[in-house]
Amino acid sequence: MTRIRRLPDALVNKIAAGEVVERPASAVKELVENALDAGATSITVELRDGGAALVRVSDDGVGMSAEELPLSLERHATSKLATDEDLDAIATLGFRGEALAAICAVSRFTVTSRARGGPDDGLRLGGEGGAVIQRIGVPCDAGTTIEVRDLFFNTPARLKFLKSPATELSATLRALTQLALAHPEVQLRVTNNGRPVLTAPAAATLKERIGALWGWDLAGRLLTVGRDEHGVRVHGHASPPDVTRGGRDDVIVIVNGRPVRDPALLQAVLAAYRPILARDRFPLVVLAVELAPADVDANVHPTKAWVRFRHPRLVQEMVVAALHDALQRPTAVAAAVDWTTEARPPGAAALAPGTQSALFAETAAPYTKAVRFGRVLGQVQDTFIVATTDDEVFFLDQHVVHERVLFERLESELASGGAPSQALLFPEPIDLPPAARALLERWRAPLERLGFAFDSGAAGGVVVTAVPTLLKGDEPRRLLEAAVDELGGANAAAPAVDRALAFVACRAAVKADTPLAREEMERLVADLAQTRTPYFCPHGRPIVSRVSMHDIRRELKRTW
Ligand SMILES: Nc1ncnc2c1ncn2[C@@H]1O[C@H](COP(=O)(O)OP(=O)(O)OP(=O)(O)O)[C@@H](O)[C@H]1O
Ligand SMILES: [Mg+2]
Repeated sequence: MTRIRRLPDALVNKIAAGEVVERPASAVKELVENALDAGATSITVELRDGGAALVRVSDDGVGMSAEELPLSLERHATSKLATDEDLDAIATLGFRGEALAAICAVSRFTVTSRARGGPDDGLRLGGEGGAVIQRIGVPCDAGTTIEVRDLFFNTPARLKFLKSPATELSATLRALTQLALAHPEVQLRVTNNGRPVLTAPAAATLKERIGALWGWDLAGRLLTVGRDEHGVRVHGHASPPDVTRGGRDDVIVIVNGRPVRDPALLQAVLAAYRPILARDRFPLVVLAVELAPADVDANVHPTKAWVRFRHPRLVQEMVVAALHDALQRPTAVAAAVDWTTEARPPGAAALAPGTQSALFAETAAPYTKAVRFGRVLGQVQDTFIVATTDDEVFFLDQHVVHERVLFERLESELASGGAPSQALLFPEPIDLPPAARALLERWRAPLERLGFAFDSGAAGGVVVTAVPTLLKGDEPRRLLEAAVDELGGANAAAPAVDRALAFVACRAAVKADTPLAREEMERLVADLAQTRTPYFCPHGRPIVSRVSMHDIRRELKRTW
């Protein structure tokens, strides 16, 4: 016979704590989120043994009055929700009203708080395993300090799962780093066993915060990402192709101020990088996604680390588009090649040696132009050039390589006056429908700068008198018709000159299925290495596919 009984509150809290508090990092995350929700401008976190022995979080937020404080420890007690509707548009990090109850259920704790603008004395509650056994008035500043000792002292099963202090510390710092990136304006100081391990002064920009956390050199090399459309704003910073990591830990996505784990968004980020990174390398990306609170549901999991979007595809596409924009901008590679260290803002702390710098020590190897694609090995299918460095094998699409090279060459010729033009011995009259003629007129200026010349002919036709030198082998009629097609076609938003340039580059570039001599391949690859954007063609197609030697060794089980 089953005997069903109601569980005592203390046990219910312990069970709930199992979901919310997995390890010290989760307790730290909840406490810092509470401080952020309380409007703190400065938060201090003191840890012992990575948080397993002690977590103390102090903030200068709004604090709690003596009446509120005991309530904060109760389950389902929150100041952040009042009505059903509030749950549909959550604007705070917390909302479940259970984090403090959960943490206190599995630790020895004291909570001290004084409300901003309240009486001079604050109140301190202390206890263990969720039971309050001490209540005293203490003089203190406005704000809140929560101390959590001996986490899991009364849940031995969970205690056994704690890892070494170093491992717990790194999990805790990862959670803190993410929150610090999500809220650059808040000062955050973290110590472990008395030593500073993370120091982030209040920052005016996300980039400044990245500098404080990951180093100024690195921050200076990151690309700026920004896109705002369809009610979704995506902004942040992303690494250029030659700054990579060995894992995905530094792809950080923040949704309305909340760092989230969203597999689909992570995949979206990786998809944007796929053409330019080897399979075992990962980018470093901090993206803040902002959208109406009603379009995202944070009430999916007790840790609040997962969210559900009303329009997930839209958000994923926005992320990919925003990253594509940034990666295809010529500065993507310029930044990687020719960066200058940003001036350190006044008051920014240097990294304490051996602390967070050691955790994020894996920065990119210095970039050298000459070895970008290494040595040319040959050609495959008369279409792909194969080259290799010690670390990677590259497959380069010869047509797109050439297109990129010509595009940039034409660009610089335009900048210094105009591209060389070849006058036709026999000007060629062409019949064009009126719409095509109108289009040609509209594009006259960029076309002329590229080396075309044409007059109006008899009966509304056009007479071509010169073509760009690069295209002198093409039949003028086909050339002009193709130009009209291209200029009138899709992609109409791109600047006129760029589209005309891309057209000429594409027509003049060596085609697929063309055997090349070794010197020609070497020339092409060397020229590509000199371009500003060697990873995408002017139309946005990738140029290079790469395989890392590391992958090959692993697959072939070669251990040396
Ligand atoms: N640092 C703090 N400063 C001011 N008030 C706080 C602080 N920490 C907690 N509180 C108050 O205590 C309440 C309970 O906190 P708790 O973290 O348990 O729940 P919550 O933040 O409302 O929701 P969640 O369980 O999702 O975190 C909060 O709603 C808030 O009013
Ligand atoms: Mg909370």
